Amino acid sequence: GGEEELVARPPVVTVMGHVDHGKTKLLDALRKTNVVAGEAGGITQKIGAYQVSTEVDDQERKITFIDTPGHEAFTAMRARGAKSTDIAVLVVAADDGVMPQTIEALNIARAAEVPVVVAVNKIDKPGADPSKVRGQLTEYGLVPEEYGGDTMFVNVSAITRDGLDDLLEAIVLTADAALDLRANDSMDSQGISIEGHLETGRGPIATVLVQRGTLRVGDSIVAGPAHGRVRAMINDAGESVKEAPPSMPVQVLGLTAVPGAGDSFLVVSDDRTARQIADRRSARLRAAAQAAGAR
Ligand code: GTP
Ligand code: NA
Ligand code: MG
Repeated sequence: GGEEELVARPPVVTVMGHVDHGKTKLLDALRKTNVVAGEAGGITQKIGAYQVSTEVDDQERKITFIDTPGHEAFTAMRARGAKSTDIAVLVVAADDGVMPQTIEALNIARAAEVPVVVAVNKIDKPGADPSKVRGQLTEYGLVPEEYGGDTMFVNVSAITRDGLDDLLEAIVLTADAALDLRANDSMDSQGISIEGHLETGRGPIATVLVQRGTLRVGDSIVAGPAHGRVRAMINDAGESVKEAPPSMPVQVLGLTAVPGAGDSFLVVSDDRTARQIADRRSARLRAAAQAAGAR
Protein backbone atom coordinates (compact mmCIF):
# COMPACT_ATOMS: atom_id res chain seq x y z
CA GLY A 1 0.00 0.00 0.00
CA GLY A 2 1.00 3.63 -0.43
CA GLU A 3 2.07 6.09 2.26
CA GLU A 4 -0.78 7.32 4.39
CA GLU A 5 -1.57 10.95 3.65
CA LEU A 6 -1.83 12.67 7.01
CA VAL A 7 -3.19 16.15 7.60
CA ALA A 8 -3.35 18.24 10.77
CA ARG A 9 -6.56 17.87 12.74
CA PRO A 10 -7.92 19.91 15.69
CA PRO A 11 -7.33 18.59 19.21
CA VAL A 12 -10.30 16.91 20.88
CA VAL A 13 -10.66 18.25 24.40
CA THR A 14 -12.90 16.72 27.05
CA VAL A 15 -14.16 19.13 29.69
CA MET A 16 -14.55 17.42 33.05
CA GLY A 17 -15.02 18.40 36.66
CA HIS A 18 -17.32 18.41 39.67
CA VAL A 19 -21.02 19.16 39.24
CA ASP A 20 -21.83 22.87 38.77
CA HIS A 21 -18.19 23.98 38.60
CA GLY A 22 -19.04 25.66 35.29
CA LYS A 23 -18.08 23.30 32.47
CA THR A 24 -21.07 24.05 30.26
CA LYS A 25 -21.07 27.75 31.11
CA LEU A 26 -17.41 27.95 30.14
CA LEU A 27 -18.16 26.34 26.78
CA ASP A 28 -21.12 28.70 26.37
CA ALA A 29 -18.75 31.62 27.01
CA LEU A 30 -16.27 30.30 24.45
CA ARG A 31 -19.01 29.72 21.86
CA LYS A 32 -21.23 32.70 22.85
CA THR A 33 -24.21 30.38 23.26
CA ASN A 34 -26.49 29.53 26.17
CA VAL A 35 -26.78 25.76 26.47
CA VAL A 36 -26.94 25.99 30.30
CA ALA A 37 -30.26 27.86 30.12
CA GLY A 38 -31.89 24.93 28.31
CA GLU A 39 -30.74 22.22 30.73
CA ALA A 40 -33.30 20.71 33.14
CA GLY A 41 -32.24 21.77 36.64
CA GLY A 42 -29.05 23.20 35.18
CA ILE A 43 -27.58 19.71 35.17
CA THR A 44 -25.87 18.35 32.07
CA GLN A 45 -27.27 14.87 31.35
CA LYS A 46 -25.69 14.02 28.03
CA ILE A 47 -22.41 14.52 26.28
CA GLY A 48 -22.26 17.54 23.99
CA ALA A 49 -19.64 18.31 21.35
CA TYR A 50 -18.67 21.66 19.89
CA GLN A 51 -15.93 23.29 17.85
CA VAL A 52 -14.35 26.65 18.72
CA SER A 53 -11.98 28.71 16.58
CA THR A 54 -9.17 30.79 18.02
CA GLU A 55 -6.15 32.64 16.71
CA VAL A 56 -2.70 31.67 17.95
CA ASP A 57 0.39 33.30 16.37
CA ASP A 58 -1.78 34.73 13.57
CA GLN A 59 -3.07 31.28 12.69
CA GLU A 60 -6.67 30.16 12.92
CA ARG A 61 -6.85 27.09 15.11
CA LYS A 62 -9.88 24.93 15.80
CA ILE A 63 -10.48 23.05 19.03
CA THR A 64 -13.15 20.37 19.48
CA PHE A 65 -14.71 20.33 22.94
CA ILE A 66 -16.64 17.47 24.51
CA ASP A 67 -18.80 18.54 27.45
CA THR A 68 -19.47 15.89 30.10
CA PRO A 69 -21.84 15.87 33.08
CA GLY A 70 -20.24 16.38 36.50
CA HIS A 71 -22.96 14.72 38.56
CA GLU A 72 -21.75 11.58 40.34
CA ALA A 73 -24.47 9.52 38.62
CA PHE A 74 -22.70 9.97 35.28
CA THR A 75 -19.36 8.27 35.90
CA ALA A 76 -19.69 6.01 32.85
CA MET A 77 -20.45 8.99 30.63
CA ARG A 78 -17.33 10.81 31.80
CA ALA A 79 -15.24 7.76 31.04
CA ARG A 80 -16.81 7.51 27.57
CA GLY A 81 -16.11 11.19 26.95
CA ALA A 82 -12.46 10.64 27.80
CA LYS A 83 -12.18 7.68 25.45
CA SER A 84 -11.92 9.78 22.31
CA THR A 85 -9.95 12.64 23.81
CA ASP A 86 -6.52 14.18 23.26
CA ILE A 87 -6.52 16.60 26.21
CA ALA A 88 -8.60 16.88 29.38
CA VAL A 89 -9.62 20.28 30.71
CA LEU A 90 -10.28 19.92 34.42
CA VAL A 91 -12.66 22.64 35.57
CA VAL A 92 -12.44 23.55 39.26
CA ALA A 93 -14.57 26.30 40.78
CA ALA A 94 -12.26 28.60 42.72
CA ASP A 95 -14.81 29.15 45.51
CA ASP A 96 -15.58 25.43 46.04
CA GLY A 97 -12.12 24.03 45.43
CA VAL A 98 -11.33 20.40 44.71
CA MET A 99 -14.34 18.08 45.17
CA PRO A 100 -14.96 14.30 44.73
CA GLN A 101 -15.77 14.42 41.00
CA THR A 102 -12.73 16.65 40.42
CA ILE A 103 -10.55 13.79 41.60
CA GLU A 104 -12.60 11.19 39.77
CA ALA A 105 -12.20 13.17 36.55
CA LEU A 106 -8.46 13.52 37.16
CA ASN A 107 -8.18 9.76 37.59
CA ILE A 108 -10.08 9.16 34.36
CA ALA A 109 -7.76 11.53 32.49
CA ARG A 110 -4.73 9.77 33.96
CA ALA A 111 -6.06 6.34 33.03
CA ALA A 112 -6.58 7.64 29.48
CA GLU A 113 -2.99 8.98 29.55
CA VAL A 114 -4.00 12.40 28.26
CA PRO A 115 -2.41 15.71 29.29
CA VAL A 116 -4.47 17.83 31.68
CA VAL A 117 -5.02 21.60 31.57
CA VAL A 118 -6.68 23.03 34.69
CA ALA A 119 -9.27 25.79 34.29
CA VAL A 120 -9.69 27.48 37.66
CA ASN A 121 -13.16 28.92 37.12
CA LYS A 122 -15.43 31.41 38.92
CA ILE A 123 -12.53 33.71 39.87
CA ASP A 124 -15.11 36.55 39.85
CA LYS A 125 -16.81 35.14 42.97
CA PRO A 126 -16.15 36.75 46.36
CA GLY A 127 -14.87 33.55 47.99
CA ALA A 128 -12.62 32.58 45.06
CA ASP A 129 -9.20 31.28 46.06
CA PRO A 130 -7.31 30.15 42.94
CA SER A 131 -4.06 29.47 44.83
CA LYS A 132 -5.89 27.13 47.20
CA VAL A 133 -6.99 25.10 44.15
CA ARG A 134 -3.35 24.95 42.99
CA GLY A 135 -2.27 23.74 46.43
CA GLN A 136 -5.01 21.11 46.57
CA LEU A 137 -4.23 19.67 43.15
CA THR A 138 -0.50 19.70 43.88
CA GLU A 139 -1.29 17.21 46.64
CA TYR A 140 -2.76 14.95 43.96
CA GLY A 141 0.40 15.23 41.86
CA LEU A 142 -0.91 17.84 39.44
CA VAL A 143 1.75 20.50 39.92
CA PRO A 144 1.33 23.95 38.29
CA GLU A 145 4.10 25.18 35.97
CA GLU A 146 4.61 28.21 38.23
CA TYR A 147 5.43 25.81 41.09
CA GLY A 148 7.95 23.97 38.90
CA GLY A 149 5.55 21.31 37.65
CA ASP A 150 4.37 20.62 34.13
CA THR A 151 0.62 21.35 34.30
CA MET A 152 -0.82 24.58 32.95
CA PHE A 153 -3.35 26.22 35.29
CA VAL A 154 -5.43 29.09 33.87
CA ASN A 155 -7.67 31.37 35.95
CA VAL A 156 -10.97 32.00 34.17
CA SER A 157 -14.46 33.32 34.67
CA ALA A 158 -17.24 32.11 32.40
CA ILE A 159 -19.26 35.14 33.53
CA THR A 160 -16.77 38.01 33.10
CA ARG A 161 -14.94 36.14 30.27
CA ASP A 162 -11.61 36.69 32.03
CA GLY A 163 -8.89 34.29 30.91
CA LEU A 164 -10.80 32.67 28.03
CA ASP A 165 -8.12 33.46 25.43
CA ASP A 166 -5.43 32.24 27.83
CA LEU A 167 -7.30 28.96 28.24
CA LEU A 168 -7.58 28.42 24.48
CA GLU A 169 -3.90 29.26 24.08
CA ALA A 170 -2.93 26.81 26.85
CA ILE A 171 -4.88 24.08 25.05
CA VAL A 172 -3.22 24.82 21.70
CA LEU A 173 0.24 24.96 23.32
CA THR A 174 -0.38 21.65 25.10
CA ALA A 175 -1.54 20.09 21.83
CA ASP A 176 1.48 21.35 19.92
CA ALA A 177 4.00 20.40 22.62
CA ALA A 178 2.73 16.97 23.62
CA LEU A 179 0.76 15.52 20.72
CA ASP A 180 1.06 14.61 17.08
CA LEU A 181 -2.42 15.42 15.86
CA ARG A 182 -2.70 14.21 12.32
CA ALA A 183 -5.18 12.02 10.53
CA ASN A 184 -5.85 10.65 7.08
CA ASP A 185 -8.78 12.66 5.70
CA SER A 186 -9.24 10.75 2.46
CA MET A 187 -9.94 7.21 3.65
CA ASP A 188 -13.41 5.78 4.45
CA SER A 189 -14.45 7.56 7.61
CA GLN A 190 -14.33 6.07 11.09
CA GLY A 191 -15.08 7.49 14.48
CA ILE A 192 -17.09 7.27 17.63
CA SER A 193 -20.72 7.90 18.49
CA ILE A 194 -20.90 10.17 21.53
CA GLU A 195 -24.64 10.65 21.97
CA GLY A 196 -27.81 9.34 20.39
CA HIS A 197 -31.52 9.95 20.68
CA LEU A 198 -34.81 9.55 18.85
CA GLU A 199 -36.51 12.66 17.53
CA THR A 200 -40.13 12.75 16.46
CA GLY A 201 -40.36 13.26 12.74
CA ARG A 202 -36.62 12.90 12.18
CA GLY A 203 -35.95 9.43 13.57
CA PRO A 204 -32.72 8.29 15.19
CA ILE A 205 -30.09 11.02 15.53
CA ALA A 206 -26.51 10.30 16.52
CA THR A 207 -23.82 12.80 17.38
CA VAL A 208 -20.61 11.31 16.09
CA LEU A 209 -17.01 12.44 16.28
CA VAL A 210 -15.10 11.78 13.07
CA GLN A 211 -11.65 10.42 13.91
CA ARG A 212 -10.32 9.34 10.50
CA GLY A 213 -11.39 10.05 6.94
CA THR A 214 -14.13 12.45 5.88
CA LEU A 215 -17.76 11.54 6.53
CA ARG A 216 -20.12 12.53 3.71
CA VAL A 217 -23.84 12.71 3.09
CA GLY A 218 -24.75 9.57 1.11
CA ASP A 219 -22.18 7.34 2.88
CA SER A 220 -23.34 3.90 4.02
CA ILE A 221 -22.44 3.55 7.68
CA VAL A 222 -22.57 1.18 10.60
CA ALA A 223 -22.77 2.73 14.07
CA GLY A 224 -22.83 0.17 16.87
CA PRO A 225 -25.82 -2.07 16.10
CA ALA A 226 -27.38 0.61 13.86
CA HIS A 227 -26.78 1.15 10.16
CA GLY A 228 -28.06 3.33 7.37
CA ARG A 229 -27.22 5.82 4.67
CA VAL A 230 -26.26 9.31 5.89
CA ARG A 231 -29.31 11.37 4.85
CA ALA A 232 -28.19 14.68 6.34
CA MET A 233 -25.56 16.04 8.70
CA ILE A 234 -25.88 19.00 11.06
CA ASN A 235 -22.94 20.81 12.66
CA ASP A 236 -22.79 22.21 16.21
CA ALA A 237 -24.27 25.52 15.03
CA GLY A 238 -27.35 23.75 13.68
CA GLU A 239 -26.31 24.18 10.05
CA SER A 240 -26.63 21.48 7.44
CA VAL A 241 -23.23 20.27 6.16
CA LYS A 242 -22.22 17.84 3.42
CA GLU A 243 -18.83 16.79 4.84
CA ALA A 244 -17.22 16.24 8.25
CA PRO A 245 -13.39 16.00 8.38
CA PRO A 246 -11.34 14.48 11.26
CA SER A 247 -12.11 15.89 14.77
CA MET A 248 -15.42 17.38 13.65
CA PRO A 249 -18.49 16.51 15.72
CA VAL A 250 -21.65 16.22 13.66
CA GLN A 251 -25.23 14.99 14.02
CA VAL A 252 -26.07 12.21 11.61
CA LEU A 253 -29.58 11.49 10.32
CA GLY A 254 -30.59 8.37 8.42
CA LEU A 255 -29.72 5.55 10.84
CA THR A 256 -32.11 2.62 11.47
CA ALA A 257 -31.63 2.81 15.25
CA VAL A 258 -29.96 4.90 17.94
CA PRO A 259 -26.33 3.87 18.55
CA GLY A 260 -25.01 3.90 22.11
CA ALA A 261 -22.59 6.50 23.42
CA GLY A 262 -19.10 5.15 22.89
CA ASP A 263 -20.09 2.89 19.96
CA SER A 264 -17.72 3.10 17.02
CA PHE A 265 -18.93 3.93 13.53
CA LEU A 266 -17.44 3.19 10.15
CA VAL A 267 -18.26 3.87 6.53
CA VAL A 268 -18.59 0.79 4.33
CA SER A 269 -18.91 0.27 0.57
CA ASP A 270 -22.68 -0.14 0.33
CA ASP A 271 -25.97 -0.47 2.23
CA ARG A 272 -25.98 -4.26 2.07
CA THR A 273 -22.58 -4.54 3.75
CA ALA A 274 -23.69 -2.03 6.37
CA ARG A 275 -26.80 -4.08 7.15
CA GLN A 276 -24.84 -7.35 7.38
CA ILE A 277 -22.31 -5.91 9.83
CA ALA A 278 -25.06 -4.29 11.90
CA ASP A 279 -27.06 -7.55 11.98
CA ARG A 280 -24.02 -9.49 13.18
CA ARG A 281 -23.40 -6.89 15.89
CA SER A 282 -27.05 -7.00 17.01
CA ALA A 283 -26.98 -10.80 17.15
CA ARG A 284 -23.83 -10.68 19.29
CA LEU A 285 -25.43 -8.13 21.62
CA ARG A 286 -28.60 -10.27 21.94
CA ALA A 287 -26.54 -13.38 22.67
CA ALA A 288 -24.54 -11.51 25.31
CA ALA A 289 -27.73 -10.19 26.91
CA GLN A 290 -29.26 -13.69 26.98
CA ALA A 291 -26.11 -15.15 28.51
CA ALA A 292 -26.15 -12.43 31.17
CA GLY A 293 -29.85 -13.10 31.86
CA ALA A 294 -29.23 -16.84 32.24
CA ARG A 295 -26.63 -16.35 34.96
P1 GTP B 1 -22.92 19.97 35.40
O1 GTP B 1 -22.89 19.79 33.94
O2 GTP B 1 -24.30 19.83 35.96
O3 GTP B 1 -21.92 19.14 36.12
O4 GTP B 1 -22.53 21.51 35.76
P2 GTP B 1 -21.44 22.41 35.00
O5 GTP B 1 -20.08 22.13 35.51
O6 GTP B 1 -21.65 22.31 33.53
O7 GTP B 1 -21.81 23.85 35.55
P3 GTP B 1 -22.73 24.93 34.79
O8 GTP B 1 -22.05 25.43 33.59
O9 GTP B 1 -24.09 24.36 34.69
O10 GTP B 1 -22.69 26.11 35.86
C1 GTP B 1 -23.21 25.93 37.16
C2 GTP B 1 -23.59 27.29 37.73
O11 GTP B 1 -22.40 28.06 37.95
C3 GTP B 1 -24.47 28.12 36.80
O12 GTP B 1 -25.41 28.79 37.58
C4 GTP B 1 -23.49 29.08 36.16
O13 GTP B 1 -24.09 30.28 35.77
C5 GTP B 1 -22.51 29.31 37.29
N1 GTP B 1 -21.17 29.67 36.81
C6 GTP B 1 -20.44 29.01 35.89
N2 GTP B 1 -19.28 29.63 35.67
C7 GTP B 1 -19.26 30.71 36.48
C8 GTP B 1 -18.31 31.75 36.72
O14 GTP B 1 -17.21 31.82 36.15
N3 GTP B 1 -18.65 32.70 37.65
C9 GTP B 1 -19.82 32.65 38.34
N4 GTP B 1 -20.06 33.62 39.21
N5 GTP B 1 -20.75 31.70 38.11
C10 GTP B 1 -20.47 30.75 37.21
NA1 NA C 1 -24.80 22.46 36.16
MG1 MG D 1 -22.78 21.04 32.42
